[in-house]
Amino acid sequence: MLPPNSFVGKVAFITGGGTGLGKGMTSALSSLGAQCFIASRKLDVLKETAEEISTKTGNKVHAVQCDVREPSSVEAAVKQMISIAGLPSVVINNAAGNFISPTERLSPNAWKTITDIVLNGTAYVTLEIGKELIKAKKGAAFLSITTPYAETGSGFVVPSSSAKAGVEALSKSLSAEWGRYGLRFNVIQSGPIKTKGAFSRLDPSGKFENIMTDRLPTGRLGTVEEIANLASYLCSDYASWISGAVIRFDGGNYVSIAGEFNELRKVTKEEWNVMEAMIRKTKGS
Ligand code: HXC
Ligand code: NAP
Repeated sequence: MLPPNSFVGKVAFITGGGTGLGKGMTSALSSLGAQCFIASRKLDVLKETAEEISTKTGNKVHAVQCDVREPSSVEAAVKQMISIAGLPSVVINNAAGNFISPTERLSPNAWKTITDIVLNGTAYVTLEIGKELIKAKKGAAFLSITTPYAETGSGFVVPSSSAKAGVEALSKSLSAEWGRYGLRFNVIQSGPIKTKGAFSRLDPSGKFENIMTDRLPTGRLGTVEEIANLASYLCSDYASWISGAVIRFDGGNYVSIAGEFNELRKVTKEEWNVMEAMIRKTKGS
């Protein structure tokens, strides 16, 4: 956790802040002094979260209805924030839509729905707020939440992996172009963290959680608090020279799956004794 008051006097705009990881990141920023605006479609969920966090931290959290797929909705949400608190210093593009499906089962509208939320939604929020910040000559930290398959691709979540790849390209591109305006852009590629929103759509039967956990070198999923701490750091002034970064946050999962010989973890001590003796015997041959 960063020093208390690290975000005092700062405004943060978090899409999808009513649930899951967005709620965790809002809670962390609020407890560090930020005035947060959480934006998504379900106003009742947002209001409940805003009330819960404000009561806990003593800092106001505002609930703003917004469908990131609609530029006019994004514009209205941003206007609402500006009229109450001014421009933000922190923008977290966290809202997403996703579900597992064999790609041949997807309709054009299924593809459009996911890519509209993930890629276009991130772009609309970034453009709307970015333009205002540039006009006002105010710096800010932008953060997007993706996942390692944005880089590798992944079957069965193809609209999500394609859109998340676009989000990473957007972040890196604007880091280069808008750095001169004092705007920083970073990405957290998160591995699996159990939230209702994600697991109900990616592991509806509950069958894959154990497989996922077994594959992780840490032997466990990530936690909401862990990603909230990293997000707070990246959006804080302590990270003022970090921009254009894509930070893999997955308990070592990516390198563990990729490493050619990592399956040798399963070899027992006795088997190693035998294999070592066999290797030593080949000396000089
Ligand atoms: C195939 C499906 C489908 C499914 C929906 N569709 N679910 N197709 N398999 N399981 C199709 C519909 O038939 C429709 O196409 C189109 O997608 C839009 O569906 P709607 O239900 O009308 O959309 P909407 O009400 O806007 O809801 C959007 C949603 C929903 C994405 C489908 O799940 C949602 O609101 N999700 C928000 C939260 C979320 O997804 N969180 C998880 C993020 S986890 P047709 O052609 O019939 O009109 C994440 C983790 C990444 O991203 C990494 C993990 C390691
Ligand atoms: P979640 O609870 O389902 O969060 C998704 C949020 O997006 C919801 O609060 C939802 O709110 C909002 N949202 C969806 N469609 C929207 C729209 N059209 N406009 C505005 N907001 C919308 O799932 P999560 O696990 O916390 O995921 C949060 C982020 O982390 C996502 O970007 C996800 O891809 C990423 N991620 C998660 C994991 C994981 O294992 N959990 C791993 C890697 C990356 P409404 O329904 O109210 O709109």
